[in-house]
Amino acid sequence: MDTALARALHVLGVVIWIGGVSMATTVALPAIRRGALGADRLQAFQTFEGRFVWQARTAVIVVGLTGFYMIERFGIWWRFGDGHYWWMHAMVGVWTLFMLLLFVGEPFVLHRYFPRWAQRYPERAFAVLHYVHVVLLVLSTVTVLGATAGSHGWLP
Ligand code: HEM
Repeated sequence: MDTALARALHVLGVVIWIGGVSMATTVALPAIRRGALGADRLQAFQTFEGRFVWQARTAVIVVGLTGFYMIERFGIWWRFGDGHYWWMHAMVGVWTLFMLLLFVGEPFVLHRYFPRWAQRYPERAFAVLHYVHVVLLVLSTVTVLGATAGSHGWLP
């Protein structure tokens, strides 16, 4: 029962977090780049980002806690030594990447340097921001597919 609850919270966290990344990448950022949300693109971006970042931070912590809890309870640390379970490495890799981005990159890079860059070279700054989101979304999508299929018996 406790592992079933951990799994349910794990998946809920993934849905909120990766769903938000997908919305930002495929809907919000293209609209901001086109200027559809107003001429002040930086303001439009910060309005979205400022609210979502706390949801993403909370979700990433829940996913990490429930994930490590399941590994310990199932006794499956050994999977990290078997390449068939590449999706376990992918989960921890994507999680580590987002932990760094949300808790270090966001306050110390995005807040400090991005506004100045976006004011000086808006086209390039938002194109790079969008590209980074596309890469993160592709990595996260592959991980979700691999983890769901893998934890239900798929061994490539
Ligand atoms: C510290 C990071 C993480 C750890 C330790 C972790 C650990 C786990 C474990 C132990 C399972 C159950 C495996 C099994 O039943 O065989 C699992 C399932 C899963 N995880 Fe993670 N995970 C982490 C991050 C992520 C991330 C970042 C994603 C998505 C991008 C993700 C998506 C999933 C999915 C979709 C499942 C399958 C749920 C199901 O269908 O039952 N996890 N995870």
